[in-house]
Parts: sequence; structure tokens; C-alpha cells
Amino acid sequence: MRVNIKQLSRKLSRQLLQICDNDTRLAQRELYWMLEHVLANNTDSTQSHLTLGDTKKLINMVTDRVEHHKPLQYILGTQPFCDLDIITRPPTLIPRWETEEWVYRLLTYIKDSIQTRQIEKPVRVLDLCTGSGCIALALARHLPTHSAHIQAVDVSASALNLARLNARELAAQLSNNVIFSSMDILSTDQISDEPFDLIVSNPPYVTHAEYDALTPDVKNWEDPGALVAENDGMAFHLHIAKAIGTRGILSPRLAWPRLVMEIGGSHQVSPITCALHENGLKDVQVWKDLAGKDRAIAAG
Ligand SMILES: C[S@@+](CC[C@H](N)C(=O)[O-])C[C@H]1O[C@@H](n2cnc3c(N)ncnc32)[C@H](O)[C@@H]1O
Repeated sequence: MRVNIKQLSRKLSRQLLQICDNDTRLAQRELYWMLEHVLANNTDSTQSHLTLGDTKKLINMVTDRVEHHKPLQYILGTQPFCDLDIITRPPTLIPRWETEEWVYRLLTYIKDSIQTRQIEKPVRVLDLCTGSGCIALALARHLPTHSAHIQAVDVSASALNLARLNARELAAQLSNNVIFSSMDILSTDQISDEPFDLIVSNPPYVTHAEYDALTPDVKNWEDPGALVAENDGMAFHLHIAKAIGTRGILSPRLAWPRLVMEIGGSHQVSPITCALHENGLKDVQVWKDLAGKDRAIAAG
């Protein structure tokens, strides 16, 4: 027995409306992605009819989305990020478009720097709080072949497992190696004893009050340890600034920027800028995202 896709879709997209702010097009789009995912994994269903097994799978996906607020990216299992399909698995943070934006921007600076300064030996890059590994892997994909040695750290064992899985699955698309290791960056002033040419980080930066106001899609599924930070969400940024300044671990081989950190908004700009200046980092600039929000702080 087979189920007519058109009839089923009408029913399921109506159910999806409640988690799509009653936006019919969004509900239809979410359903389309789920259906595409089901069809990609089975040869017995057709474009017009689903097998009973696939029908059940699709209904379960919609139920997970509507009743359990499971993010679509966890249902589909991947999220596009800088031209890579990053595997997503709860509770590791799903890569965000805001992050993708500044990583693309950073890539233009770094590529230009490598070329104009004719840097021959690979640049050393450190990604702090790597999560799924998306930033480190995006740099590994887009920087010129063998031009970078990339290290990435995280405190969460499940995040590191996922990052390593991503590195294995995406290996054929990477032009540079990434090494992942475990580190609690807040527990040490010695983030590194070797110099790096570039340090990047998307650390936790949500305040407790902001966390309380987040939707169940986030709160029920993503690790709070990936989101919340003390000190008005700035504990990691301030710690990183101090650790870099104290140890002087940024080398002068690359042109600006040599440090980029994602931030939670304009309220964090001034304290973080002060901390960067106090610790010897110059030319601090704020990068906005496409929504016009202060999204990243870049410094030299
Ligand atoms: C906002 S997520 C960013 C993940 C990824 N870089 C991205 O952009 O999607 C922050 C990450 O910081 C990690 N983290 C939290 N506390 C940490 C600590 N003390 N030391 C190192 N990593 C930490 C979390 O496990 C989480 O993966």
C-alpha cells in the first residue's frame, strides 16, 4: 500500500503551521525538506507516493518538530555552512548563518594576507570552542591547500566526537588538516604556549536572562553550556583577551585581523573592546551581520 504525497502534505503542513508562526510558506518549506530527506534515503517511494514505512518516518519527523520542538537541522541531520554539509547532532550547537557570514568575511582577509605577504610556511590557526567543528572545517576547506595548520578545542566530549566525525566525513572536501583536542579554556591562563597567527572563537555569550527567554527549540535541545556565559555573557571573551595578552601568543605574520570572536550584541562591544586594548590588541573593529546586529569583534 502507498500513500498519496499531495494529500499527506496538506495535512502535515497544516500541523507544522503552529511552530512556523502560522507562516504557510515556511511550513510548506519545512515539510518539503523533510520529504526530500525521506525520499533521498529510500528507492521504493516515488515522487507522488510514499511507502508505508516512509509515511511513518515523515509523520514522526513532523511530530518531533511540532510536539517536541526538535530543530529542523537535528531532524535532517545536517546544516549547510560555508559550502560544507555539517553533521548536526543534539546537544551540540547547530551552526548559525550569522557565524557563517563572518567566517566568509574573515576568509577574504586571510586569503589576501597569505597572498600579499607571500607567507610560505602554513599559518597556525586556533579555533576556541569549536562545537561541531564548523568554523575550523570551513577554514580548512577554503584556505589554499596546505596553507594552514588548524587546531580546534572544546570542553565537551560529545562536541569533539561530532567535530571529528565531521572532519572524517568531509575529508575529501578539505584542503588543510584540522586537529581537535579537549580543553576547558576557562580553567587555564595558558590557552597555548606556542604562537598562533590567527585565533577565532564563537564562544558561549548568552546571558542568564536572555537564556530564560529563548524558545523551546533551543532550550529543549541545545547544550546550555554552549550558550550561556557568566559576566553578562562575556566571561569567555574577557578570558581569551587576557590569555592572549599575558602570553603574547599572537604572531605578527598575518595582517589584520589576528583575532575574531563572535559576540551577542552591541551591549558587549565596549567591555570587550576595553579588554582587548588593555591586553595589547589594536585596531578593534565590530562586524555587523546581515540583520544589522553587532555580531563579531575583530582585532589585530
Ligand atoms: C556557541 S558554541 C559554538 C560552536 C561552534 N564554534 C559554532 O560556531 O557553531 C560554544 C562551544 O563552546 C564550548 N565550551 C563551553 N565552555 C567551554 C570551555 N570552558 N572551554 C572550551 N569550550 C567550551 C561548548 O561546548 C560549545 O561547543
